[in-house]
Parts: sequence; C-alpha cells; structure tokens
Amino acid sequence: MDRVTETALLTTVPHQTAPAPERPAVRPTVLARRAARVLAVNRTGGATVPARSLYPHQWSWDSGFIAIGLRHRFPLRAQQELETLLAAQWEDGRVPHIVFNPVVPRGAYFPSPDFWRSSDAGRPAGAPRERETSGIVQPPVHALAAWLVHRADPELSRRRAFLARAYPKLAAWHAYLATRRDLGGHGLAACVHPWEPGMDNSPCWDAPLTRVPPAPRGSFRRADLDHGAPADRPTDLDYGRYVRLAADYRDSGYHDGSAFAFAVEDPGFNALLTASEHALADIARELGLGHRCTAHEERARRLTEAMVRRLWSPGSGQFLSRDLVAGGLVAERSAAGLLPLAVPGLPGGVAAALVRTAAGPHFALDGGIGMVPSYDLRGGAFDRHRYWRGPAWFNVNWVLEHGLRRHGYAGRADALRAAMLTHADATGFAEYLDPVTGEARGAIDFGWTAALTLDLLATRGEPWTGGQPPEVSSSASEPTAAQA
Ligand code: SER
Repeated sequence: MDRVTETALLTTVPHQTAPAPERPAVRPTVLARRAARVLAVNRTGGATVPARSLYPHQWSWDSGFIAIGLRHRFPLRAQQELETLLAAQWEDGRVPHIVFNPVVPRGAYFPSPDFWRSSDAGRPAGAPRERETSGIVQPPVHALAAWLVHRADPELSRRRAFLARAYPKLAAWHAYLATRRDLGGHGLAACVHPWEPGMDNSPCWDAPLTRVPPAPRGSFRRADLDHGAPADRPTDLDYGRYVRLAADYRDSGYHDGSAFAFAVEDPGFNALLTASEHALADIARELGLGHRCTAHEERARRLTEAMVRRLWSPGSGQFLSRDLVAGGLVAERSAAGLLPLAVPGLPGGVAAALVRTAAGPHFALDGGIGMVPSYDLRGGAFDRHRYWRGPAWFNVNWVLEHGLRRHGYAGRADALRAAMLTHADATGFAEYLDPVTGEARGAIDFGWTAALTLDLLATRGEPWTGGQPPEVSSSASEPTAAQA
C-alpha cells in the first residue's frame, strides 16, 4: 500500500481499516495469565529483560513499566525490579539506561559494556565500580513506578522499608535532572542522546542529528540486526550517529558541562518527569516528610509551567521538542508531544487541544487500530514499520489512556484500553504495531507490553498520584465528534 492510500484510509474511512472491538476476544483472566507468563520467562535474576533476544539486559524505563505491571501479581518482585536498577545508580544521581547482566555474552548486545566502560570512564561522574552500565539515561518513570508499586501492597512495602530506601535515590535522580541536565537553563531536563527520550529514531531527531558526523562504517557491529528486520530498525547512518554521540560523551568522562552536538528538551521525557515528581510528593507524604512533599509539588508545578512556556505549540495543538543547539522548536509531530496529557494541572485549553490532536488526522486515535502511532500519520517521514517513525507502542498509549481519563475523557480512555488489550492479545504482546493494520512488529513477548496489559486489566482508572486537580474537572463532558 502506498503512503497516499494509507493516509486516505486512515483519515477518510478510518473505521474500515482495523476497527478495535469493544472488548478483547480473550477472557481477561486468560490474557492476564499469558501476560504473567511473559514476565516470568523474561525474568533474569533480580530484573526482567524487555525481550530475551533483542534486549538481554535490564533497561531503565522498561523496568519502570514492568514494575507497574508486576505489582499486581508479584509485588515483591516489582519492588526488587526497581531496587536492582537503583543499585546501579551513579553517585551524581543518574540512573543509567542499561544495567548489564555480567553472564550475558558481550556480543549479544551492542553497545556492550566494553564500549561504555562505565566503571572506568564513568568514575569521574561516580559510576559504580562493581557493575557495568551505560552512561546515558532514559525517561524518569521510576518514582511513579515506586509509588504505584507501594500502593499495590502497602503492608509489604512498609515492612521492607521499600519507599524509605528508594526515596533518597529517586530524589537524587530527579536532582541530577534538575541541575546537571537543565542545559537550557529554563527548568526542563535536556536529553543528550536520541536514546534518552526513549524514542530512538523519531523523525524529531533527524534535523538535530545532521550536525553529528557518524562513526565510521566498520568501526562497530550492530547486534540488533541479528534479531530484528532491518526495515523495522534504525538505519546504519542513524546508528553511526548514535555511536559517535555516545563515544564523545564517554570520552568526556560523561561530563554534563560538555558542549553537546545533540541537546533537546523533549515533552515526553519532561511529562514523565513531572508525573514522577508528583509521585515523589506522595512518597514524601507517606514517609512523613511534609516539607519535602511541598518542595516536590512546587517543582512539579514549575516543570508544568516550563513545559507549557517552552514546548507548547498552539498552532500544532501539541507539545514539540526544542533543539537547544540550533534553538527553536522542532517542527515534527511525535506522540511524545501528546504525553503531557497525563500531567495534572495543565491549563484546560491545552488538555482539550491535545485530545483534539490525538483524535484528529495526525494521530487518528478514534480510527485505524484505535491506538496512536508514534509519529504523525501525515508527516513526511512517516514509516509504518520503522521503530519510532510510525509504529504504535503500548507504553505511549498507556500513558495517554491515563491522561484521557484524568482529564475527563472516560469514553475515549475506555476505547483505547479495549484496543490495547485486543492488540496485546492478538499480537502475542508485540513490542510495537503497524499503525495501519495492527500487525505485530519488532519482538514479541515484550516485557512492558505484557506488564501494561496486566495493569490495564487490574486497574479501573485510579489517578496515579494525588497531585493538584486538573483544570478540566473529571466531571467534564467529553467533546463531541465535531469538536474533536
Ligand atoms: N533502544 C535502544 C537500543 O535499541 C537503546 O536502548 O538499543
């Protein structure tokens, strides 16, 4: 199918492409059992791998989402998932994006520990001596995950002093992002590698990456192509640039005062940071640290304000990324720009506009497969198969489902939930989906897809945190089809 036909299908007769049934064909108990089995199979020691073949170590934001699902069946394991990750935290507060499993052969994943050399090159920044990690970060979902994990079994959590032990580490993680990573100086955290916002090869990074000379071909060997179809994965040119950026950061001693060739403020990363800052406030309240609770609420409020001031694009009806090197917003629509919907306290008009954008022709939430794609269906760089350049991802849609509910769009949230459960079941918990057909792409038995399926099955829209009520009250009526 050519792109023009695809777009026409999605925007003119959306319900004829791949309608999402009202509820999954499979019984919820059976689906939950299957999801739990994936998490059991993906378990390696104290952590859970995203996918046995493609991602054989512990990944940071994956573990956050995985803990959120594990908590419903295995609350102890959910706590340990986060504890294992936080045990690899650097002294400067950063939580590395990968914690390497020493028993996995070096060639199983690239860049491997001997590329990052954290225990040596990372020492100036306080990398642990006794375990190997990467030196970049991923979206900070961990405080949110810790809070949700606690709530699933408060008695176990208190008995193990789970929050009391995690809180100082989580607070240090957020302090790292608030200080060393406020590269723009306006209160938002910056990402210095395209892998840090989690959406590796998003078209948002195409322009910023043109400044980065790729590492020479043949100077490294990709391991991802041993497991994934080349048409689904980033190109060699992009990979060369990822390697160059990571090597330069490593060679600076992972120093955040360096002059970065790539530095962006991403709305998805900062939205998840804000949601986690609200969770830190709840954690501090639970621990009886009233003054810390107030400070976290205040920081969440300032983050929200800065996101709206720096990244909101009224003309686009969504948030955009800001390129700190070239200056200015990146004129590409990524699903990251919808994620602030999950943040409490957004100005009312912003939340309503985000929902209209999600439902409109660029993301077609109401049509197609019933889940938003990672990138603009009408964008010049849209590619329905290639990693973050179009495919629909479960974690993104899980965040949106919460945001819709939080802002009073319960009907849309219910439809999205039903679509996600249907696709999770039909695809064998795929890593991502073709956003036109719903076909499975990437790995199957993917950790966060299984975990978030468990979470959707077990919860009925409880707010994540007790943050300030949104300006659009939860009793607000849903917009009509014409408004949306
Ligand atoms: N997702 C990236 C990879 O493919 C970085 O974590 O390895």
